[in-house]
Amino acid sequence: VVYENSTIASKSVAKEIADLIRVKQAQKQPCILGLATGSSPKGLYSELVRLHKEEGLSFKNVVSFNLDEYYPMEPDSINSYVRFMKEQLFNHVDILTENYYIPNGKLSKEDIADYCSNYEAKIEALGGIDLQILGIGGNGHIGFNESGSLQNSKTRLVALDHVTRVAASNDFSGLEKTPRTAITLGVKKIMEAKRVILMAWGEGKSHIIKASTEGPVTSQVPASFLQEHNNATFVLDQSSASKL
Ligand code: GLP
Repeated sequence: VVYENSTIASKSVAKEIADLIRVKQAQKQPCILGLATGSSPKGLYSELVRLHKEEGLSFKNVVSFNLDEYYPMEPDSINSYVRFMKEQLFNHVDILTENYYIPNGKLSKEDIADYCSNYEAKIEALGGIDLQILGIGGNGHIGFNESGSLQNSKTRLVALDHVTRVAASNDFSGLEKTPRTAITLGVKKIMEAKRVILMAWGEGKSHIIKASTEGPVTSQVPASFLQEHNNATFVLDQSSASKL
């Protein structure tokens, strides 16, 4: 779906999420959201905060699982995704602190594998992700599932691509200080989500949006796997859609 601009697009995605949260509330069910970081979902989160403050949207029945976190990463560090999520969303709505999960960037190496299978088990115990929000990396990564990630890949520690590290290096004041690894939800759990919304804005994403939606389904472009999802939508602005 192509919108005139990212503000209108973000509001439309926020409305879908708000409607889902309310439906689940009426059914006395938890609403399981998969959440993303990066610049793309910022407008979505600010609109959700507005809906909470001005229209009484409650997040008390929301349980959320973030896609990824750099490793190693201290949760209160300026670049942590924990900090990002608190600043963009969690600190401004009534979600319960025990109800949001973000991969832990300060585990010891030997604990990561167990931690990742527990992360997936928690999602499964709740019946899976109702709605997964995604951004997309310039190389087609979703979460931190870089090129080469398999469609059945699990939640795991991954090595970040050079291009991903270069893209992040401004935030970390230089490539040398940019993490080399991250923990990411695997492609399999993303594909199992009942609904997937990938958001992308700007000319810079137009090439990878074309490759993901019109190119072959390939692990070289992990977002292309979404062509095989039965309820996935790419939400775009005019610039990111300009090569379609
Ligand atoms: C990081 C995140 C991804 C995100 C991507 C794109 O790599 N791990 O989940 O989709 O950045 O970020 P942006 O939305 O800032 O372009």
